[in-house]
Amino acid sequence: MATYDLVVIGTGPGGYVCAVRAAQLGMKVAVVEKNATLGGTCLNVGCMPSKALLHASEMFEEAGHSFAKMGVSVSAPKLDLPAMMNFKQQGIDGNVKGVEFLMKKNKIDVLKGTGKILGTGKVEVSADGKSQAIETKNIVIATGSDIARLKGIDIDEKRIVSSTGALSLDKVPGKLLIVGAGVIGLELGSVWHRLGAEVVVVEFLDRILPGMDGEIAKQFQRILEKQGFAFKLGAKVTAVDTSGKTLKATVEPAAGGNAETLEADVVLVCIGRVPYTEGLGLKEAGVALDARGRVQIDAHFATSVKGIYAIGDVVAGPMLAHKAEDEGVAVAEIIAGQAGHVNYDVIPGVVYTTPEVSSVGKTEEELKQAGVAYTVGKFPFTANGRSKVNQTTDGFVKILADAKTDRVLGVHIIGREAGEMIHEACVLMEFGGSAEDLARTCHAHPTRSEAVKEAALAVGKRAIHM
Ligand code: FAD
Ligand code: NAI
Repeated sequence: MATYDLVVIGTGPGGYVCAVRAAQLGMKVAVVEKNATLGGTCLNVGCMPSKALLHASEMFEEAGHSFAKMGVSVSAPKLDLPAMMNFKQQGIDGNVKGVEFLMKKNKIDVLKGTGKILGTGKVEVSADGKSQAIETKNIVIATGSDIARLKGIDIDEKRIVSSTGALSLDKVPGKLLIVGAGVIGLELGSVWHRLGAEVVVVEFLDRILPGMDGEIAKQFQRILEKQGFAFKLGAKVTAVDTSGKTLKATVEPAAGGNAETLEADVVLVCIGRVPYTEGLGLKEAGVALDARGRVQIDAHFATSVKGIYAIGDVVAGPMLAHKAEDEGVAVAEIIAGQAGHVNYDVIPGVVYTTPEVSSVGKTEEELKQAGVAYTVGKFPFTANGRSKVNQTTDGFVKILADAKTDRVLGVHIIGREAGEMIHEACVLMEFGGSAEDLARTCHAHPTRSEAVKEAALAVGKRAIHM
């Protein structure tokens, strides 16, 4: 029987990163993966394919609508969807191969099959009707998450799709109805809208992107509406009639009232994700779950059973790849006797649309609710020189700082490249920095990041270019 220091179940960003870090620390490591390819949701049907399609569709949109005004005259671009899907697949393949390489480089055994925990120190791996038992000192559960479903609405991944189906449609839907104005709805809605679909988003709440700063979400909604998105807020889809050539969705006000029928060629259901623990044998092994079906862990990622840990989407916290990765590193270090740690106050979130939305730390709503006195500094991209010359002036930077200490508590950006720009705020916040620190840091000119410096200056009411 093979024996290991650590067996990681699942090779998403949480699992494979954990395995690499553990191998770096001298452990003998194996990963177990039930999918044909490594990399989990993120690499196969999540972050990476969606970003490939966002990039390609943005280029299509730019070629059709922005080149001419810059004096670049091209004939109207034609969509070759199979080629675009091939571009996406090449990206997936490249990244998946990258993870395989990392496993080899770090001498990590890859065990293909479904992992089941038989108790402390024992994992069974089954594939093709055969199973093998392996012994290990430690187990990390990194089995990720699955799509959340709507009662009574069957996802066939052809006409009624989850994000997985929406990443592989074989033609552009005339009308795309999206259920849920969260990250997936707005990112994949952008892809198909740019490629020609009419997009309607039905959202249960009275706002889009719950959890993001309200002012940013409001402006983002206006920008998306200008692009052509239609929103039905405070509404829910209760049924989809699939009997005809066109789908007929029943949409009801969330608070109750008269239903209406919306027609669509494709319905995308993206109302969140749920932890994935199927077939892991957690109940029999005595591993406790919390009320929402997530594996329960303590501050050191330890489950209720000795020697079994859990990280990533399958535990509490934001379902983000970088959160899973950081937890993977931390738990490997803890198992090695070091002081692994994740600072949950500084985990950035990015929506990769055009413009992008990024955020780290507290929102204005959260500060109000916690009764924290704060100051706000804002700076619009309309006043940023680089954005002006590029004619990409949508959005603004917003910095929230403690009114007494000036410590930065939250940064929220809407604008092109916001996903790259957020990281100086992350570093600043990791070091407990103030708006004054940021305002006195020299920023290269002309960059969009100067808007971050100006927003920091605006906290002290001394922005220069406004
Ligand atoms: P996963 O990536 O879900 O990996 C879990 C792995 O475990 C899977 O490979 C699964 O096959 C395997 N597994 C499960 N059970 C078993 C078992 N019993 N035995 C063996 N193997 C098993 N996050 C971002 O930060 N940025 C983004 O841009 C982003 N975009 C996204 C876009 C989409 C469309 C979706 C759906 C998600 C996106 N996410 C994004 C979220 C991100 O994909 C997840 O947060 C991340 O993948 C979680 O990593 P994980 O390692 O916890 O689990
Ligand atoms: P989400 O939680 O971001 O959004 C779901 C939305 O659906 C919410 O606005 C919610 O109010 C709404 N909703 C719930 N039930 C509804 C109903 N019955 N009718 C109408 N609306 C309803 O979830 P989403 O977009 O499915 O994404 C899942 C996860 O994947 C997220 O947690 C996110 O973190 C991750 N992800 C991250 C990305 C990124 O970081 N760029 C990109 C895509 C996904």
